[in-house]
Amino acid sequence: MPVTPERFVAGMRLHAAGVTIVATSFEGRPFGLTATAVCSVSAEPPQLLVCVHRAAEAHEPIRRGRIFSVNVLAAGQRRLADRFAGRLGPRGAARFEEGRGTRLATGAPVLDGARAVFDCALVTGLEAGTHTIFVGRVEAVLTDPTLAPLIYHEGEYGLVAQLPA
Ligand SMILES: Cc1cc2nc3c(=O)[nH]c(=O)nc-3n(C[C@H](O)[C@H](O)[C@H](O)COP(=O)(O)O)c2cc1C
Repeated sequence: MPVTPERFVAGMRLHAAGVTIVATSFEGRPFGLTATAVCSVSAEPPQLLVCVHRAAEAHEPIRRGRIFSVNVLAAGQRRLADRFAGRLGPRGAARFEEGRGTRLATGAPVLDGARAVFDCALVTGLEAGTHTIFVGRVEAVLTDPTLAPLIYHEGEYGLVAQLPA
């Protein structure tokens, strides 16, 4: 029996995932969206992938500008996650009025206070259903492991709890 979109979503809701903001710059304007569909591809060379809906405002700027950053959010950045998911209203450059940091190697915008930042040059974009899988070559990395991670699970934000050893 074919799997309905609802059944698929019901399963994916049980996949706890770290929350990121994917950000780009095209023709001098920044764009970004909240994304959990982010995955490591290879360490040699350093590559990752992010799945972006073709209707997302940042999709064409990433495809045409060929740069993007993946900002791994800290627990205190839940509001920023809602902002870049379009839940608080602002679109386009207005989303960056909160949280914007310095640029790294590619010129893609980077967010202050992230746990990790991967600054990427686009290698390829593969169409898959409603989304494009963007593969990026990582040109710079920032890390701050002292910050706790922000997790998304069953439609809610959460924290990581350590199991006893
Ligand atoms: C926790 C969370 C995770 C999301 N993950 C993704 C994702 O991986 N890919 C994606 O295309 N949209 C994802 N979204 C939805 C986009 O953030 C949202 O549709 C965004 O506003 C893009 O559309 P817009 O920029 O045109 O408003 C996610 C939203 C939330 C709240």
